[in-house]
Amino acid sequence: MQTHIGKKAAGEKAAEYIKPGMTVGLGTGSTAYYTILRIGELVRAGLEIKAVATSSQSEQLARENEIPLIAFDQVEKIDIDIDGADEADVQLQLIKGGGGALLREKIIAAASKEMLVVIDDQKLVKQLGRFPLPVEVVTFAWELTRKHLEAIGARPVLRLKDNNRFITDNGNYILDCYFEKIHNAAALHNQLNNIPGVVENGLFLHYATRLIIGHQDGTIREITHPYPARTSF
Ligand code: A5P
Repeated sequence: MQTHIGKKAAGEKAAEYIKPGMTVGLGTGSTAYYTILRIGELVRAGLEIKAVATSSQSEQLARENEIPLIAFDQVEKIDIDIDGADEADVQLQLIKGGGGALLREKIIAAASKEMLVVIDDQKLVKQLGRFPLPVEVVTFAWELTRKHLEAIGARPVLRLKDNNRFITDNGNYILDCYFEKIHNAAALHNQLNNIPGVVENGLFLHYATRLIIGHQDGTIREITHPYPARTSF
């Protein structure tokens, strides 16, 4: 993989927030990739942690890097979740799911005390919506679900991979939804999740507690959420 300095800087910086004994959520994508590699180095140097992965891809990378994984039924708490994003604003609202892992990513984010989001500076936007919003839908009658999405103003496009329909880790499809602009993200989030057939959408509005932004020269900017961190479960 080609090294992207901004992503690498942000991804590696996030690993500094991990303390011994923590249970860590491992994100998905090319920025979280650098976090996982760095965690692997720390583990091999003696750091004792447990981890849960947000995708089969990250699970495999964690195994290759000797990071101890625990099954979800053994999870008592998740101290910190470190994940990428496709877009973020300064209120720490996100669009996620470009890699197709949004459902598991949201379940892990919602179960974590803190969520650190690692991005390069290209992904910081004034208003969410330039990136098409991924919406995970069940395969049954997905065409009808698409019609509902069109009715609320989206232009949904079924995601493909290698000319085949993209299937998520949960056996569902993704409809990438183009909107002119997202004016009220909270209202849209609720509207989307009320459509029968929609499993989850890629708006992450109240999860991120720290945004770590990497620049192409290797420097970092961090933005924290003004509210205190959540308690896990
Ligand atoms: C995976 O489903 C996504 O939510 C990723 O976190 C997001 O697409 C960011 O990926 P990159 O770090 O590869 O840009």
